[in-house]
Amino acid sequence: MNRAEFARRRKRLLEIMGKDAIAILPAKPVCKRNRDNEYPYRPDSDFWYLSGFPEPEAVLVLIPGRKHGEYIIFCRERDPKLEQWNGALAGQQGAVEEYGADDSFPIDDIDDILPGLLENRNKVYYTMGREPAFDQRLIGWIDRLRGKARAGVHAPDNIIALEHLLHEMRLIKSKAEIEAIRHAARVTAQAHRRAMRVCRPGLHEYQIEAELHHEFAFNGCRFPAYNTIVAGGGNACVLHYTENGQRLKNNDLLLVDAGAEYRYYAADITRTFPVNGKFRRAQKALYEVVLAAQEAAIAQVRPGNHWNDPHEAAVEVITEGLRALGLLKGRVSTLIKKEAYKTFFMHRTGHWLGMDVHDVGEYKVGDSWRVLEPGMVMTVEPGIYVPAGSKGVDRKWWNIGIRIEDDVLVTKEGCEVLTADAPKAIDEIEALMGHG
Ligand code: GLY
Ligand code: MN
Ligand code: MN
Repeated sequence: MNRAEFARRRKRLLEIMGKDAIAILPAKPVCKRNRDNEYPYRPDSDFWYLSGFPEPEAVLVLIPGRKHGEYIIFCRERDPKLEQWNGALAGQQGAVEEYGADDSFPIDDIDDILPGLLENRNKVYYTMGREPAFDQRLIGWIDRLRGKARAGVHAPDNIIALEHLLHEMRLIKSKAEIEAIRHAARVTAQAHRRAMRVCRPGLHEYQIEAELHHEFAFNGCRFPAYNTIVAGGGNACVLHYTENGQRLKNNDLLLVDAGAEYRYYAADITRTFPVNGKFRRAQKALYEVVLAAQEAAIAQVRPGNHWNDPHEAAVEVITEGLRALGLLKGRVSTLIKKEAYKTFFMHRTGHWLGMDVHDVGEYKVGDSWRVLEPGMVMTVEPGIYVPAGSKGVDRKWWNIGIRIEDDVLVTKEGCEVLTADAPKAIDEIEALMGHG
């Protein structure tokens, strides 16, 4: 992402905010992992989207029409002692010269300066509840201004959710954003192929995780975009399984849900394959249903269709498939109406994808599902999960959990599957695993 792109985003937001407004975004605080030891710092996605500013202890302020500059960064002052331990700081000069701020002040002076910037602005665009400590400070500053009413100072009347404007912008990806997701998707697909190649009975789930993360990091994606799921056998029926500690058994399936993050953009792929490289009959039967559902869902991704169309297509194929295999009984239309499929397919077919793996943007506009537009990126990820002990279900289906997930870009003509390099057809998977 170059500087011009960040500037374009701010300009757009400044235009929609209107003249009597101000927007305030604090950076996310550093988070401790344990005593004296921090999690690697990852800026809040909204904050980064507008600034590209990588430091904590910073606040962005956008003030449309302000004579002395519309874009202000509060950040830490340079400090040679601190910088010797933790690396270089931008300081006020860097905020202006490297990050395009019109003006920059030390973060320690914010109590003295920010109330003045709020004076005579009517609307404050701000995300309440994300940083509770900062919420209190903002309310305090506004309250201070109210106390100056007799001096002719007008305090803001409205605090408006900034995220509505910003998240609508983030929902439609630019060329540069699509390139970042494309890279994350390419590296992630490569990692899934690697997982398939090295997988064999007797390895532990964490060893497959290590292979995935090696491939990510080695290709410029130091961190996964979310907690990696490597789930053998029945573990795959726990949707958010992340213990990744068990030994892989011959004849089990392995579900891998793992995605790399590249320049703060996520990929999100799930593949399910046999630990020993060869699908068994029951596994194959359910796998074919999930794959057909996923393909039917992807076929619904095109401009003009609604957000829910892919999900409805997946529900139909899965319900028909489960009925054909005897896991559901009754008429397909009734089973769909009664949501009988939810016993085995209990999550939705996808989500928006971007800087956050479950990315921002509304799924409904008013009462209607959102219409798909070019530049939106979403996942398509139906699944079937049959835990051991499922009542009224033949034992041959127990401990089978299958999900197939791809990342799909809505294009002018239809869609593009960004993760197509990760094999999902049964013969392709078996060939890659040495059973062609
Ligand atoms: N990996 C998170 C998800 O698939 O939604
Ligand atoms: Mn997903
Ligand atoms: Mn996933």
